[in-house]
Amino acid sequence: MRSANFKTGEIMTDISVIGLGDMGSALANTLLNNGYSVTVWNRSSEKTSPLIASGALLASSPEEAIAASPATIACIKSHDTTIQIFEDINLSLKGKTIIELSTGGVIEAETLAGLLSERGADWIIGCIRGYPSMVGDKSVRIITAAKQNVWAKWQGLIKTLGGSSVYVGDRAGMVPTLFAALFITGQGFLFGMIYGGIVCKKAGISLEEFARFVPTNMDSLHNYFSSSVADEIHESPDASMTVYANALEDALGTFAALGASSELPQLFSEQVRKGMDADLDKKALTALIDLLAES
Ligand SMILES: NC(=O)c1ccc[n+]([C@@H]2O[C@H](COP(=O)([O-])OP(=O)(O)OC[C@H]3O[C@@H](n4cnc5c(N)ncnc54)[C@H](OP(=O)(O)O)[C@@H]3O)[C@@H](O)[C@H]2O)c1
Repeated sequence: MRSANFKTGEIMTDISVIGLGDMGSALANTLLNNGYSVTVWNRSSEKTSPLIASGALLASSPEEAIAASPATIACIKSHDTTIQIFEDINLSLKGKTIIELSTGGVIEAETLAGLLSERGADWIIGCIRGYPSMVGDKSVRIITAAKQNVWAKWQGLIKTLGGSSVYVGDRAGMVPTLFAALFITGQGFLFGMIYGGIVCKKAGISLEEFARFVPTNMDSLHNYFSSSVADEIHESPDASMTVYANALEDALGTFAALGASSELPQLFSEQVRKGMDADLDKKALTALIDLLAES
């Protein structure tokens, strides 16, 4: 184990990582593998051992970890937990950069960024789009918000963790908002497959058979969405709201005939009905965004 004298408060490593769950450990490991010197801290000490064996320095508190490096990555349960940790520590954060990679809500992200600014620290709020086993991969995207100069200083390190990482602006709340939007997009697909699985099961079609036909990429839906939201005109690229309304009625009829639970297609159908009632029948389905955002 490398010994550390944290009492001096000197910078000892390039980067500190606090929170060594599955994701925090993957982040710290990737940084070590890419030649960064790393200090680590975790609430329960057993998770630190593999990283210490790989050359990380062990801090005995968040304060020690933050003092040991110019920047600290926090990857804990959520922004709430990170806020709690920073409220509890008694340490000057002047000149430090805190990179928050825990997931959280919009209010908490703004609160954390405000707290860090008040304490003199620069901050980056990021959201990791990928699993721990993928960290370090070109495909992994960390969506970040920060002041532009802070992003410029740390983007190399962040791109070591996720090669497709992007900067979206200087409002902390942008990150959890985009997280919510992208998460719900993925959940729409996943729950679509779950309800698709229900109707197939009712009809005696194996889930394996169904899975063979589930799209492996969303290019056509992506094109439909991005072309119809351009300039917010919502012209129908290929299929109008009427086409979707009719297809949903057909699908709901099949769910009903087979006695399959249909909460999700019913919700879709109700929302499309609102669009039809608002005379959006010739528009693309995406015209629902403006309509529903007003309600
Ligand atoms: N796993 C993923 O696929 C993934 C993907 C993208 C983003 N993320 C985000 O990354 C963050 C960490 O996820 P994870 O997968 O690493 O979770 P995890 O394996 O459950 O680890 C949670 C970590 O948070 C620490 N922690 C929890 N409550 C704490 C508290 N009150 N004080 C101090 N430390 C506390 C835990 O410490 P102990 O070890 O002491 O319990 C542990 O280090 C989450 O915000 C998650 O949403 C995860």
